[in-house]
Amino acid sequence: SVDGHHVSYTITAQQRKTAFYPGHKSDTFGYNGNLLGPVVKLKKGQNVKIKLVNHLNEDTTFHWHGLEVPGDVDGGPDQVLKPGEEKNISFKVNQPAATLWFHPHPSPHTGEQVYKGLAGLIYIEDNNKNAEKLPHEYGVNDLPLILQDKSFDSNKQLDYEKAKNDDGTTGNTGLVNGKVDPKLTVNKGLVRLRILNASNARVYHLKFDNGMKFDHIASDGGYLNKPKKVSEIQMAPSERNEILVDFSKVKGDHVNLVNEDGKVILPIHFIDSHQSFQASDEKISTLNLNNVKVSPKEKEMKATKKVVLAGMGQNVTINGKKFDKNRIDLKQKVNKTEIWEIENKKGAMGGMVHPFHLHGTQFKVISVDGKNPPEEMQGYKDTISLNPGQKVKIAVRFNHKGIYMFHCHNLEHEDNGMMGHIKVS
Ligand code: C2O
Ligand code: CU
Ligand code: CU
Repeated sequence: SVDGHHVSYTITAQQRKTAFYPGHKSDTFGYNGNLLGPVVKLKKGQNVKIKLVNHLNEDTTFHWHGLEVPGDVDGGPDQVLKPGEEKNISFKVNQPAATLWFHPHPSPHTGEQVYKGLAGLIYIEDNNKNAEKLPHEYGVNDLPLILQDKSFDSNKQLDYEKAKNDDGTTGNTGLVNGKVDPKLTVNKGLVRLRILNASNARVYHLKFDNGMKFDHIASDGGYLNKPKKVSEIQMAPSERNEILVDFSKVKGDHVNLVNEDGKVILPIHFIDSHQSFQASDEKISTLNLNNVKVSPKEKEMKATKKVVLAGMGQNVTINGKKFDKNRIDLKQKVNKTEIWEIENKKGAMGGMVHPFHLHGTQFKVISVDGKNPPEEMQGYKDTISLNPGQKVKIAVRFNHKGIYMFHCHNLEHEDNGMMGHIKVS
């Protein structure tokens, strides 16, 4: 329910049967009766109340990925709801428009619970006048795409234990919005796609199979300063990207969204409709959507926090340690910017990609391997993917107090202990 300044939701985690293939039901989870979850729509300035309900037969938590909330409602692994438990939380939304998400975070079962279907979107809206020129009709020209990959056994059942991989569980079947063999039908005009990579471990390099360009308009924490024309976007687990695609000039009746290996992620079919959102390309590409800046002072500040990501499989560590629920690893003062240096340390075996995620705040990327970050990293971010050997600097400021998590968002790495606590006071 909504009344402008207040909004309330009930989110129930529950078991359900899902027939990914007709006639073959799997044991899965979901929020509010569905696989995945409802879209939680919030406005900047709103007071939000959420009733959390755990109807699973196991512990879970409710984490708001990307939301700037006090540590005691952040839903990390220390805020468990036991089977049958309920809890009311409240917070005020105080950040710009963005596409965020929520998911469980119980240690060490995040990978399993997300894989089984617990993940939902959060949209934050604000009164950014220029953004009003973008398509924003939910379900018509503003569409969510939740990308996941899962494996099914010979009975077409979902089985996490069989699929599980210590280096990150990937599946042989791609799903969009919880569907196997997905298909999208859109008006042949300008369409906004809000993409979430909710896969446990897969990194996507998305493009269209006709090679067409599109506008990248937003990343994790909201709008980029300006739309950026691209022909491909990279998405590590938990990252969000919003893109604007002009389908009006595409020849034929469909185009495919594909991964770098050519695998079709989503066929997009067109219907001609007078409802199509038409906007001239020039108008879109010159829109000022945001004003995220790294100040000269922030550029010169020395790193006061260091985070080293290392290892593979069961041997992953963060700053040489594994997660301990009783240990505070880092401390920072509220409302004070610090520079963090994150390093993905190469091992004898080379190493692997680690998407670094920080709770409770949106950070600015200061540098990638000593250089200015590329434009697509110049907005607010909550996750940054590091290749083996890479080093990045980020400017971190928390607006709330409490204990938060930092971790690798390859969910099996997280479950294997690649996670720590930061106390903000
Ligand atoms: Cu997507 Cu610790 O979270
Ligand atoms: Cu998070
Ligand atoms: Cu990792």
